[in-house]
Amino acid sequence: MTAEHVNPLRDPTDRRLPRIAGPCSLILFGVTGDLAKKKLIPAVYDLANRGLLPPGFALVGFARADFKDGTFAQMIKKAAKEGARTPWSETVWKQLAAGIRFVPGEFDDDDAWDRLADTMKELDDQQGTGGNHAFYLSIPPSLFPVVVSQIKKHGLAESSKGWRRVVIEKPFGHDLASAVELNRMVGDVFSRESVFRIDHYLGKETVQNILAFRFANGMFEPIWNNHYVDHVQITMAEDIGIGSRAGYYDSIGAARDVIQNHLLQLMALIAMEEPVSFNASSLRLEKQKILANARPPARMDLHTAQAQYVAGWAGGEKVRGYLEEEGVHEGSRAETYAAIRVDVSTRRWAGVPFYLRTGKRLGRRVTEVAVVFKRAPHQPFNKNDVEELGQNALVMRIQPDEGVTLRFGAKVPGTTMEIRDVNMDFAYGGAFVESSPEAYERLILDVLLGDPPLFPQHEEVELSWKILDPVIAHWKQDKEIDTYPAGTWGPPSADAMMARDGRTWRRP
Ligand code: BG6
Repeated sequence: MTAEHVNPLRDPTDRRLPRIAGPCSLILFGVTGDLAKKKLIPAVYDLANRGLLPPGFALVGFARADFKDGTFAQMIKKAAKEGARTPWSETVWKQLAAGIRFVPGEFDDDDAWDRLADTMKELDDQQGTGGNHAFYLSIPPSLFPVVVSQIKKHGLAESSKGWRRVVIEKPFGHDLASAVELNRMVGDVFSRESVFRIDHYLGKETVQNILAFRFANGMFEPIWNNHYVDHVQITMAEDIGIGSRAGYYDSIGAARDVIQNHLLQLMALIAMEEPVSFNASSLRLEKQKILANARPPARMDLHTAQAQYVAGWAGGEKVRGYLEEEGVHEGSRAETYAAIRVDVSTRRWAGVPFYLRTGKRLGRRVTEVAVVFKRAPHQPFNKNDVEELGQNALVMRIQPDEGVTLRFGAKVPGTTMEIRDVNMDFAYGGAFVESSPEAYERLILDVLLGDPPLFPQHEEVELSWKILDPVIAHWKQDKEIDTYPAGTWGPPSADAMMARDGRTWRRP
């Protein structure tokens, strides 16, 4: 067994079993969309290439598009070839292609759903999918109600023969009330165990490693608390703009796009107590306790920042501002940068602020969690000698350059006792020969296996909205939105927010 098959979140007694999905089909709504082409289809191919899909696997596309004979499979092939992580194999492709089907139609067209039901039956007979079908909703949230109700109306959510699952891509609502409504609607059709909410950050190796790092080692946990930790900074920075995604992004903004899900999940993993086991319910329980105890800042005017990028530079090229991007509404107030302080009121974390920030068109692409430690209580050195000594920090590099860095002070060689910060580094690339699977490979496989630990339950989703809703409501009152030039590290208000607490953002 190679290390890439090892799932640190599975029961250790399962470790020797290869994780291969049984016969089933994946029915993809939104198959012509960006996510499907760039991530989902390549991930399916990579899984097939790694031998983790059964011969009887089927991929069904359901969309309005009118593909002539064979052109759907060609589109899938092109997307798989362009996005695959593993080498191309015609043999693997041929096997996959045998199970590819396309059903044309509008989501509200009952005849099209009848055709889908027929296709599923045919696949059960011809491909041996055994009644096992996962519906993957990679579509705008406005289409969830029609698709979910059609699944119910056509009796596709249940089967006496096999399992039925539904996969929902974020955003899970746009505030607490809409998330509750979405959960109610989905829960009306699918049982709790059959709903898989995708937060693709949880599928990343480096994110799963947070739990391995914390709970497999003896030396970090004793200092993982407010006696030693000064604060935590969670950064998800992107150098790209919004590209062709204005339709989605402009009504959402940075906080709803990634803080509500990816960054609050990272925070929960960093802050949670040791779970009883790594099964889904134990993990969720611990994450929920953190989210339930997490509060937005009391003074949102002082401890949050939001801004929009204006024209600037990216990769040596001049780039336009957000308001000039194609499809953005005139005078849009959508924030492309968001930073908030979150306080977690537990015995372990009281008094330790968690600072979460994200932005498009920042200096570079980097996601990291920095646990910044308090200074030593006493420094027996001359003031000048420790001028260049910062606070100790443990930085988990989620991406790129995946790894962990420990920053501490060391003596500069020479005749004086000058002390300066140095880094001790673990890099995935240097320590392991296996390359990490893409998050979507892992998550799609887990859906097909019915393995739930990496999927947030609705309680986590709702608790996360409870943290964010008041911040967004507060931002709505602002008459103007702050700005930052593309290629910089965000607006001055974000620096001011840290300065008020006597701290600075790390420059990743
Ligand atoms: C998505 C957001 O969830 O994550 C995007 O909707 C963002 O706006 C993307 O670009 C980033 O993902 P990754 O895996 O490249 O960090």
